[in-house]
Amino acid sequence: MSSKIPADAKMATRAVHAGLDPDPTYGSIIPPIHQTSTFVQPSPGEYVGDFDYARSGNPTRAALEKALGQLEGGLATTFSSGLAGEHALITAVAGTGGHVVLPNDLYGGTYRLVDSVFSRWGLQYDLVDQRDLDATVAKIRPETSVVWVESPTNPLLNVVDVPALIERVRARAKEVGASLIVVVDNTFATPINQRPLEWGADAVVHSTTKYLGGHSDVVGGAVVVREKALHAAVRHVQNSVGAIPGPFDCFLLHRGLRTLHLRVAQHTKNGEAVSAFLRTVDGVTDVRWPGFGGMVSFQHPGALGITTATNIFSLAESLGGVESLIEVPAAMTHQSVAGSDAAVPADLVRLSCGVEDPDDLVADLRQAIAANAG
Ligand SMILES: Cc1ncc(COP(=O)(O)O)c(C=O)c1O
Repeated sequence: MSSKIPADAKMATRAVHAGLDPDPTYGSIIPPIHQTSTFVQPSPGEYVGDFDYARSGNPTRAALEKALGQLEGGLATTFSSGLAGEHALITAVAGTGGHVVLPNDLYGGTYRLVDSVFSRWGLQYDLVDQRDLDATVAKIRPETSVVWVESPTNPLLNVVDVPALIERVRARAKEVGASLIVVVDNTFATPINQRPLEWGADAVVHSTTKYLGGHSDVVGGAVVVREKALHAAVRHVQNSVGAIPGPFDCFLLHRGLRTLHLRVAQHTKNGEAVSAFLRTVDGVTDVRWPGFGGMVSFQHPGALGITTATNIFSLAESLGGVESLIEVPAAMTHQSVAGSDAAVPADLVRLSCGVEDPDDLVADLRQAIAANAG
């Protein structure tokens, strides 16, 4: 936030002003995009600000990281994708012989990262339905270094009682002598709907590609943590591996953040209208909407046909943009969990309701489902 905005400002005010201070050179209200790879040093080893080389730091990225920290209530590090951020965080805290507890409904790419990349380096994992707190804590053992939470989950939109889970995990970790962190993937909820660091989570991750960017024009990721030591460890991996976002991507993301509260309010209106409609349609089963945001899922025997019959909902992976998207997770975003305990139903349709008029979205789904009534 600009240094003039009160620290206790409400979320709408924070979203508009987070991370923004006028440019010190000309006073432009939006700071410039520092499209540069390096920074001239007044004398060897002497830097202007914190900046020596743009993998290590860039003012455009620093402003975005400040903004994300102010929205989630922690210290942020940004990445070239959500998965790059997840990779950095797990690399910072876990290693050979370690163990991760994952949700049994989760983004397929997170599963793939742990199952096919980290496991090659000796990291073990268990999948569990985290709505069942007893079952979740039973998975924690002395080697557990990460309890990874998604809420709502992708794609089944299960909602986990995160504060209760954190309390139980801490107690169990103490009992078995595990030194672990609790991570919450806050991509679906956004800091407008939940701020897990305020509940005691150690870290929040985002695919900023989604609601935070909000315009389907950039891929990015963020890790926001409470403790300085963890922040330093994540930054160390960011700099050592180098999966950084470019300055223009940082600018676009930062611009997206400024309307986050407005967009999320409309996404919620549309998610509510669409899920209420779907509950009235013959042949549609298991309609899910977490009570906020634009993510809705349902099952229908004509799932594949429906996704190609919509006109306003575009058939595409991803979510969280201003335009509505439709997909079949089993055939698209979640192919990597096929055959595992995290597999998703073949007839599941996932909707990302954008910010269009809800009547138009409902009419679009009505005709697409009618055309596939079978
Ligand atoms: C919940 C969730 N977390 C993480 C990711 C990974 O983000 P990215 O695609 O930016 O790497 C995604 C991507 O769809 C996601 O849906």
